[in-house]
Amino acid sequence: MKLPRDAGIVVLTGAGISAESGLRTFRDADGLWENHRVEDVATPEAFARNSALVYRFYNERRRGLAGVRPNAAHAALARLEAAWPGDFLLVTQNVDDLHDRAGSRSLLHMHGELLKARCLACRAVRPWPGDLDADDRCPTCRHGRLRPHIVWFGERPLEMERIFEALDTCGLFVAIGTSGHVYPAAGFVAAVHPRAHTLELNLEPSQVVDAFLEHRTGRATELVPAFLAELLAE
Ligand code: APR
Repeated sequence: MKLPRDAGIVVLTGAGISAESGLRTFRDADGLWENHRVEDVATPEAFARNSALVYRFYNERRRGLAGVRPNAAHAALARLEAAWPGDFLLVTQNVDDLHDRAGSRSLLHMHGELLKARCLACRAVRPWPGDLDADDRCPTCRHGRLRPHIVWFGERPLEMERIFEALDTCGLFVAIGTSGHVYPAAGFVAAVHPRAHTLELNLEPSQVVDAFLEHRTGRATELVPAFLAELLAE
C-alpha cells in the first residue's frame, strides 16, 4: 500500500491493544464480561439500581491502571502521530490512559475515561484519579453526585461528529485490537470513504473482518510497530 504523505489517517483501538500491558479485554477467555454481567455494572439502569456495585467495579479498574504501562503498540502510535505529515486521529474505545501516557495527543476517548468523573447535576467532567463513591460531590457546582465518566451500554458514544468527519476524509483507516462486536465503532470501517485503504490488525479475525480491504493477525506489540515502519519507509 502506497499512501500519499498528505493523506489523513484514522486509527481505532480496542481492548486488544492494552492486553499486553496486562489489562483484561472484554470478550476473550477470562475477559471482563465473563466475570461480570454487563447489565449489572455497565448500564444506566445498573447505576440506578445498585450504584455501590458500579462504583466498586470502576474503582477496581481505576486502581488497576497504577500497575500497568503503555506497550510497544501504544508507543508506535504516538510516534506515528508525531512523524506523519498529514492529518492523524486516534480514536480509542479504551477507558484506560495508556495512549495518553504513551504521548498520543490527537486522541478521542469515545467510550469515556476511567480517570475522570462526571457530575449528574451540572455535567462538568473532572479528572478523578482516586476512588469514587456515592458520597463524593461535584467540585464545580458543589452539590451534584458524581458518576464514572464512562459511556455505558445504551448511551451515546462521545465525539461522534468529529470522528465521522475524519473517517469521511481519511486515506487510511486502521482498526487495532477490537472484536467488532460493539457499534458504532464496529461500523466505522463501512463509513470510511471508498477511496481509502482499510486495515485490521488483531489477534484473530474480528466480527467485521470482511469489510476491510486487508487484515493481519498477530499481537499488537508486533504488528503495530512493523506496520508503522512500513508506512514511514515508503
Ligand atoms: N494484540 C492484538 N489483538 C488482541 C490482543 C493482542 N495482544 N489480545 C486480544 N486481542 C483482540 C481479541 O482477539 C479481540 O478480538 O482484541 C479484541 C478485544 O475485543 P473485546 O474484548 O471485545 O474489546 P473491544 O473490541 O475493545 O470492546 C469494545 O465493548 O464492552 C464494551 O465498552 C466496551 O470499549 C469496549 C467495547
